[in-house]
Amino acid sequence: MMLANKTLFITGVTSGIGEGLLRHACVHGARVYGCGRNEAKLNALASEYSSFVPIVLDISKHEDWRRCFCNQLVDVSFDIAILNAGTCEYLDDAHIDVALVDRLVATNFSGNILGMQMLMDKMTHSGGGTIAVMSSSAAFFPMPRAEAYGASKAALSYFTEAYAVSAKCKGIHFCTINPGFIKTPLTDKNDFPMPMMVSSEQLAKKVFDGLLKKKATINYPVIFTSVLRMIGCLPVNFRQWIAGRMLKT
Ligand SMILES: NC(=O)c1ccc[n+]([C@@H]2O[C@H](COP(=O)([O-])OP(=O)(O)OC[C@H]3O[C@@H](n4cnc5c(N)ncnc54)[C@H](OP(=O)(O)O)[C@@H]3O)[C@@H](O)[C@H]2O)c1
Repeated sequence: MMLANKTLFITGVTSGIGEGLLRHACVHGARVYGCGRNEAKLNALASEYSSFVPIVLDISKHEDWRRCFCNQLVDVSFDIAILNAGTCEYLDDAHIDVALVDRLVATNFSGNILGMQMLMDKMTHSGGGTIAVMSSSAAFFPMPRAEAYGASKAALSYFTEAYAVSAKCKGIHFCTINPGFIKTPLTDKNDFPMPMMVSSEQLAKKVFDGLLKKKATINYPVIFTSVLRMIGCLPVNFRQWIAGRMLKT
């Protein structure tokens, strides 16, 4: 299966990884319905690619999803959807900022579940499709400061992996994408070392290769994500010792 003539739905196309996915898909002949809140950036992308349809949508708002799927997208069916939009904030000085935790859960977890529900209804009626979610390798290994971010992504991964089993009988294939460090405006804000960082163009190629092969997970870059997965399998005392060392760097 090639991307040409496929219809895609991608969230978070106005920046970083999502923009990389959108550009790759349009260049390879797909028609892409892409979302974000930044209307000016959506319009700028639409003027670059005639096969791109911009959609203003805040993924944390149920009414936005309903407006979009019950009006704008009623007559459209999708071959592949990528729930990529997300955000990251860190906790500092061991202070639990409850508003920050709520924000991350509302976007990274609940917002994606709203989208999944809308896409499941649509794809079930149109006879099947693929839904991918952008989780994170942060979900493999609990790291200090990333408590809220990692928990929101771990919840998303858990939900997706379990739900994929139920969704299979309806002809829907699910995939969880776990990137390492990808150079984007989000990671540009980080103030700590980010080993083995790759570009959003490199990730986009791996994502579409994996989705077209119907993979259940895509971990990229392979060495970095494998190391995190191995650390995640160590006894908790070792994991916390490593995490403590990271906090000091
Ligand atoms: N970069 C990395 O190293 C890395 C690693 C692992 C996982 N990830 C995940 O990859 C995804 C993309 O990250 P990125 O690095 O590309 O970040 P980014 O450059 O900040 O882009 C985030 C995208 O998500 C959209 N977005 C955020 N909140 C939204 C909301 N409430 N409603 C609709 N759209 C929203 C933004 O669009 P608007 O501002 O226009 O709404 C933007 O297009 C995230 O889920 C992130 O957690 C990133």
